Amino acid sequence: MPRNSLCKSTSSFILLLTYFFFFFIFSLSSVMVNGESQSFARTLSPESMRFKQEKITHLHFYFHDIVSGRNPTAVRVAEAPITNKSATFFGAVVVMDDPLTETPELTSKAVGRAQGIYSATSQSELSFLLAFNFVFSEGKYNGSTLSVLGREPVGPKVRELPVIGGSGIFRFARGYALVKTQALDLKTGDAVLEYDVFVIHY
Ligand SMILES: *[C@@H]1O[C@H](CO)[C@@H](O)[C@H](O)[C@H]1NC(C)=O
Ligand SMILES: *[C@@H]1O[C@H](CO)[C@@H](O)[C@H](O)[C@H]1NC(C)=O
Repeated sequence: MPRNSLCKSTSSFILLLTYFFFFFIFSLSSVMVNGESQSFARTLSPESMRFKQEKITHLHFYFHDIVSGRNPTAVRVAEAPITNKSATFFGAVVVMDDPLTETPELTSKAVGRAQGIYSATSQSELSFLLAFNFVFSEGKYNGSTLSVLGREPVGPKVRELPVIGGSGIFRFARGYALVKTQALDLKTGDAVLEYDVFVIHY
């Protein structure tokens, strides 16, 4: 073989080697991007987890926010120096463990609790940031939760809150809650709210 041609075949061999090297690196990196080579995560079909058909559940109950008396279910835990002078209670933070019942009477059948916090977050109207979980205690819903995060101004007749998740029977839940004031004691601040919750889940 003439020297020139040897040189040529060697360089094309190196070129080929370089090509395969980059091809290998490229395919390796795409595998890593797809996550297939990672041990902490894997892709599953919903069916393999027995999540088959999504459905909508409508829940209807009454929410008792009791702030007065010997046994309040909602207590103010923090406030700003201006909170009590503010017409909108701006800066107040309240922790609640409010009972949920089947009918507007507190003595009616309990279906769960609303546990979480709300705070007055508007300086121009009475409006709250709500972050809480519904914890249900009835029948097949016992122990299951729905998580609510939203804004509730008290002005409108119907307020809407996003439901951003759930647990137990409500895994993968998402939806919304419509809230109406059933009763409000202006002297004590105690309120009964009617909730209609619509959630999509498996
Ligand atoms: C503000 O009002 C609340 C509720 O009436 C009361 O518990 C709290 O002590 C007051 N805070 C101040 C700083 O006056
Ligand atoms: C709900 O579940 C808890 C704990 O598993 C149990 O103690 C309770 O009796 C149940 N409540 C109802 C109403 O089934």
